[in-house]
Amino acid sequence: MRRVVFVDDAPEILQHLRRILAPMQTEWEMQFFASATQALAAIQETSCDVVVSDMTMPGMDGAKFLGEVCKACPQTIRIVLSGDQSPYNYVRSASVAHRFLQKPFDVATLKSTIEQAEALRTVLGNPALRNLVNEIKALPSLPSIYQDLMQEMQAPQASLKKAARIVAKDLGMVTKILQLVNSAFFGLRTHVSDPEQAVALLGFDTIKSLVLSSQVFAQFDQAKLPSFSLDELWRHAMLTGTCARRIAKEEGASQQVMDEAFTAALLHDVGVLVLVANRPSDYARVLDLVRTTQMPDWAAEREVFGADHAHVGAYLLGIWGLSDGIVEAVAFHHHPADYMASSFCAVTAVHVGNAMAETQARLGDGAGEVTGLDQTYITRESLLPRLTRWRELCAAG
Ligand SMILES: [Fe+2]
Ligand SMILES: [Fe+2]
Repeated sequence: MRRVVFVDDAPEILQHLRRILAPMQTEWEMQFFASATQALAAIQETSCDVVVSDMTMPGMDGAKFLGEVCKACPQTIRIVLSGDQSPYNYVRSASVAHRFLQKPFDVATLKSTIEQAEALRTVLGNPALRNLVNEIKALPSLPSIYQDLMQEMQAPQASLKKAARIVAKDLGMVTKILQLVNSAFFGLRTHVSDPEQAVALLGFDTIKSLVLSSQVFAQFDQAKLPSFSLDELWRHAMLTGTCARRIAKEEGASQQVMDEAFTAALLHDVGVLVLVANRPSDYARVLDLVRTTQMPDWAAEREVFGADHAHVGAYLLGIWGLSDGIVEAVAFHHHPADYMASSFCAVTAVHVGNAMAETQARLGDGAGEVTGLDQTYITRESLLPRLTRWRELCAAG
């Protein structure tokens, strides 16, 4: 049975939670605490699967509490339940929580949030890697972009538009911003997938707090893995984004699929960033294997880590609350044949977009075969006749 711990200092809220969650007793073992200190002691004794915590509490507050839960039990899914919308609190919780729920919430939302988090465990089977991803608070950014953004936000005439353009140049920042804007804090009914729009929605105060809080945007330490280029990873991501969007448009996909395809393509290799930033010496072995054996990166990662960057990235985006369409397109971007659903979707666009972008980087304007396509999938979905047109579209500047 799933163990879920709730913490809130207000007795009437705890009462309310007990009452509305009573029907869940057959599925969840629930515990309710009025103080974070008590809850932490209980979790340290017996680990739990999910913790749902208030933010503003006397003594140990929600951000501090969830930080401690992360240390004691990295596998626990951490959810903030907050009624306080101040940017300060929001940013503090952003560094420690996987998901955010706004008070008042309904049981169905909580239930589906918890179920989604649980389902993701199958995406990334390796528990050690899952713990590694669960502990991640920030994804590293390029130091030069971080400095630019810092400067812009501290300028007397700071412009949100300029800030948005800076953020859009960095994989770590884009991922974090999309996590925040798509969280229940904002109560948006649709998923936002455009980084610039996300910055506009978050607003000046939140972006400024994010930049100044070193826990949310961290700088990439190039010295840990000199042979890896974060810059190149982002260039590839943006090219894949352009290719995926053009392919989706050509196929007459809905606006939602086009947006999902573009965002998923921007984020498709975020798992590489996670592995490089957190396990640099192991990733050096991956790069060595790729260089000496010419095997694809995902195959080398499976040898070294027991999972590849597609699984790691999809798991991260999933627990950070990005939409299922994006999570799936990232999870299957190298092996879409493992994805059961048929017909054109973001999975198709990202897979083909990635192969086109890689081929372009390798061949430039030169002719040659498109590599990296999953032939089983291309045949199963009868996509072969479309490839020439898609390639033309991707190559157009
Ligand atoms: Fe990839
Ligand atoms: Fe890629």
